[in-house]
Amino acid sequence: MAPKPKFTALDDTLYEYLVAHRSPDDAVVAELREETARLGGMAVMQIAPDQATLLRILVSAIGARRAIEVGTFTGLSALAIARGLPPDGRLLCLDVSDEWTRIARRYWEKAGVADRIELRLGPAADTLQSLPESPSFDFAFIDADKKSYGLYWQEVVRRLRPGGIVAVDNVLWEGEVVKPDKRGEDVQAIRSFNESVLADERVESVMLAVADGLTLARKL
Ligand SMILES: C[S@@+](CC[C@H](N)C(=O)[O-])C[C@H]1O[C@@H](n2cnc3c(N)ncnc32)[C@H](O)[C@@H]1O
Repeated sequence: MAPKPKFTALDDTLYEYLVAHRSPDDAVVAELREETARLGGMAVMQIAPDQATLLRILVSAIGARRAIEVGTFTGLSALAIARGLPPDGRLLCLDVSDEWTRIARRYWEKAGVADRIELRLGPAADTLQSLPESPSFDFAFIDADKKSYGLYWQEVVRRLRPGGIVAVDNVLWEGEVVKPDKRGEDVQAIRSFNESVLADERVESVMLAVADGLTLARKL
């Protein structure tokens, strides 16, 4: 008999327990979450609390000094990554929205990490392609428009140093990745992206059931 799959399904209560049992957020993060929530439906774009903690721990654990983020919104993931960097570390953030990233900048200032973060506004594909080809990043987080994930992956992975880590959000697309009747542009892009990660021999990867699915890949 096949062994029982080893995972614990989460319901709301168990998820609240999980979120409560991590190092607590400080006032800056709490305020940023509240301000983002006031934006209304858009707020779902913000990463989950446990993801933010995970990003910070990962960045710090690998001793990352240079990081890049594709998709910044109001700045929570960037804040988490920046806090995992040493004081002289650098995070390059790419986004198209001046309106949302203006909020981000205020919180980076409040948290005292603004001097570690450079924000470049414009289509991320253009900005990525304009960067030097040399493998200069230790850590990358991809969380922007899903149809371009494949392109972002290619541009990011080639610029990652061996041993560097790339994290990619929303790889389960609310479970739609395994529902063949779901044929929207985003889910199709995510499905095809997930297959391409698996076939990419430059990395070893794992898909984590964190929030909406988080792929972690380490460059070999
Ligand atoms: C899911 S949100 C990012 C959430 C963010 N990581 C956080 O923790 O709050 C996606 C972001 O990607 C940005 N975006 C969408 N299309 C883009 C593009 N072509 N180039 C750069 N950024 C883009 C949006 O403006 C939005 O801020």
